[in-house]
Amino acid sequence: MTLLMKLMTVACIAFIFSIGCVHGHDGAHAFECEALPGGEVPKITNFISADNSINGTTICMMQYEVPQGANLWQGMIAANQQQGDNFTYMANLNSEYGHFITTINGVTAADGYFWAIFDGEGIATPVGVDALVLEDGDSYIFNYMYYNASSPTIANYTGPCLNAPVIPANMPLTYLSTFITVADDNTDNVKAGTNFEPVCNQLVLFDQSQPSLYDVMMLVNNQIPLDIRVTLDTSNMTVMTLNDITNQGGYAWTPFNVKTNMKLPRDLSMTQLSDGDQIRFVFAEVNDEAEVNDDDEGDEFECEALPGGEVPKITNFISADNSFNGTTICMMQYEVPQGANLWQGMMAASQQQGDNFTYMATVHPIYGHFITTINGVTGAAGYFWAIFDGEGIATPVGVDWLVLEDGDSYIFNYMYAPPYNASNPDHVIANYTGPCLNAPVISANMPLTYLSTFITVADDNTENVKAGTNFEPVCNQLVLFDQSQPSLYDVMMLVNMQIPLDIRVTVDTSNMTVMTLNNITNQGGYAWTPFNVKTNMKLPRDLSMTQLSDGDQIRFDFAEVEDDEDDDMSSGVETTMSVILLLSSVFMAFFI
Ligand SMILES: *[C@@H]1O[C@H](CO)[C@@H](O)[C@H](O)[C@H]1NC(C)=O
Ligand SMILES: *[C@@H]1O[C@H](CO)[C@@H](O)[C@H](O)[C@H]1NC(C)=O
Ligand SMILES: *[C@@H]1O[C@H](CO)[C@@H](O)[C@H](O)[C@H]1NC(C)=O
Ligand SMILES: *[C@@H]1O[C@H](CO)[C@@H](O)[C@H](O)[C@H]1NC(C)=O
Ligand SMILES: *[C@@H]1O[C@H](CO)[C@@H](O)[C@H](O)[C@H]1NC(C)=O
Ligand SMILES: *[C@@H]1O[C@H](CO)[C@@H](O)[C@H](O)[C@H]1NC(C)=O
Ligand SMILES: *[C@@H]1O[C@H](CO)[C@@H](O)[C@H](O)[C@H]1NC(C)=O
Ligand SMILES: *[C@@H]1O[C@H](CO)[C@@H](O)[C@H](O)[C@H]1NC(C)=O
Ligand SMILES: *[C@@H]1O[C@H](CO)[C@@H](O)[C@H](O)[C@H]1NC(C)=O
Ligand SMILES: *[C@@H]1O[C@H](CO)[C@@H](O)[C@H](O)[C@H]1NC(C)=O
Ligand SMILES: *[C@@H]1O[C@H](CO)[C@@H](O)[C@H](O)[C@H]1NC(C)=O
Repeated sequence: MTLLMKLMTVACIAFIFSIGCVHGHDGAHAFECEALPGGEVPKITNFISADNSINGTTICMMQYEVPQGANLWQGMIAANQQQGDNFTYMANLNSEYGHFITTINGVTAADGYFWAIFDGEGIATPVGVDALVLEDGDSYIFNYMYYNASSPTIANYTGPCLNAPVIPANMPLTYLSTFITVADDNTDNVKAGTNFEPVCNQLVLFDQSQPSLYDVMMLVNNQIPLDIRVTLDTSNMTVMTLNDITNQGGYAWTPFNVKTNMKLPRDLSMTQLSDGDQIRFVFAEVNDEAEVNDDDEGDEFECEALPGGEVPKITNFISADNSFNGTTICMMQYEVPQGANLWQGMMAASQQQGDNFTYMATVHPIYGHFITTINGVTGAAGYFWAIFDGEGIATPVGVDWLVLEDGDSYIFNYMYAPPYNASNPDHVIANYTGPCLNAPVISANMPLTYLSTFITVADDNTENVKAGTNFEPVCNQLVLFDQSQPSLYDVMMLVNMQIPLDIRVTVDTSNMTVMTLNNITNQGGYAWTPFNVKTNMKLPRDLSMTQLSDGDQIRFDFAEVEDDEDDDMSSGVETTMSVILLLSSVFMAFFI
């Protein structure tokens, strides 16, 4: 602890010094920040060493690449990505002083021992890793050593890493770069008493699997804590506070694309970034009509009942091409109810094609499913399952967004995502030209066994409660369910995983009622109440009491509660039944 305090003092002096510089600069001139040149982001080559001669392993001069503009913390992130287990680290983060390195290659600071940082000449660095901006060819040495409180001067490093052979990286740099500017326009009246500082073209490294501006802004507090501090409103994915200034007085932090000078949506999740993008945040006047009211108040919610009778089915095809290092199975035919999206198509294809088409995925509440594995092969180290349509053109969106039409064919192709390079500036995925474009059809071994129900979430009576939520009504949304689990409760247990972009529900498992639907919670004498659309009959709020048949249409209304309605519906027998149903559906959920 004493040691950390001492180190903090050192870092603190350096930090105050650098703040002093910025202030002096600030007072004299207006904030200026020129756009970076376009084109490929320049990279520099650096070296990092971990010397634990004292009681462990020493690995010197590990080479790595990092985008120009990185600090040593970002260098460590890049070094770890490229050198793997040869360079690992852990750190504590102090919001004022930045990162303190606690552990390198599994060895933790303890009992007066700590990881001191030296430059390539062996001279101890006066500041922490966040304050060291890297230049091409820089070398930094982490040395595990004893801190002698009675002679606090750290001697120059003389160990083996000063003159050691280079260890090249096993992996290319896979991080992409974006550059964030926080401008100071319009902040004069609100910055008094805050620690607001503008920043110019600050590099943020991001992973190509998480390319939205929201993902990037989620990284900055930990990646560049001395430069940008942000709080995000996770309900609508907007910036609330940037470098201590909170949206107020008709002004809000608004992103712009520097290259095009276009305003971007305040919902940061709507902007996908490419390598080298430059984003400027301006404290800009809010033009409410322009963005906010667009889809919300514009059109009335309308949702007509579907025709009765048998649910129409469509015939589709799915291919899994792992020509790269495995098996390719093309044009597997399957049936699916009309209205399905490709995720539901994958469920149906797997049901009908068995082991010939299996998959695993993770689910994100905003973007939906990411396919991680197909037919046992998992994406790894730049390899992933890209999705192409029947013409061989890469789909711009994920599987949940693709609504299927009769005859549609989709091809999953295991392929390498090349890192950004100048001759491919838009990071375009080439058209698919493999064997599944013209392959014989493999017919299904099994008929479609899923049943269909259609769920509507109406917006009646939600005006007074929907502010600040992400509530959206939905109309006749298909849910596939298994005939062994035919209750409305079972179906509502499936929706969060099956149609995450359309319906999000929380169910009270004690009495099997809906608590929250699309982020509106029962309140003020109103509760989510199911109706049978065909008969227009109110259904019990205990969802386990409604058994569904193929093609049933259910509408949830935010309806006034009549207190006596549910009283005599819960006899002991039904409670027991409900518990049994609950247990079996929990089991089935795990099993699936
Ligand atoms: C670690 O470095 C050694 C050379 O010192 C190399 O043989 C090995 O492949 C490296 N391991 C990783 C995971 O990069
Ligand atoms: C020696 O190394 C181990 C890990 O291998 C570490 O946990 C321990 O703290 C080290 N001891 C000293 C005094 O450096
Ligand atoms: C700490 O430094 C003092 C003064 O240089 C020296 O006498 C002492 O031996 C050192 N202690 C250790 C444990 O290295
Ligand atoms: C470290 O080396 C530099 C020259 O390389 C020298 O100026 C400095 O005094 C040395 N510092 C210590 C603590 O020995
Ligand atoms: C739901 O709405 C509340 C405010 O009522 C908000 O705090 C929360 O973040 C929202 N959650 C989601 C997932 O939209
Ligand atoms: C998988 O496809 C092959 C034809 O490529 C077929 O012979 C086999 O029966 C299929 N297996 C399953 C489980 O559907
Ligand atoms: C090759 O295929 C195996 C599975 O058969 C998979 O685990 C591995 O990641 C693949 N390797 C590459 C580089 O694609
Ligand atoms: C850059 O992209 C082009 C077009 O996709 C490709 O032909 C070339 O091999 C790539 N170069 C490198 C170094 O990856
Ligand atoms: C893919 O093919 C379509 C026409 O089929 C063409 O318009 C498009 O430019 C191609 N895209 C690429 C990246 O080659
Ligand atoms: C986002 O939600 C907050 C409340 O959670 C609200 O104050 C703000 O106006 C919303 N921003 C946008 C752009 O809708
Ligand atoms: C279900 O239980 C919750 C408390 O767990 C209660 O607030 C709610 O009123 C109950 N709903 C019905 C319909 O009984």
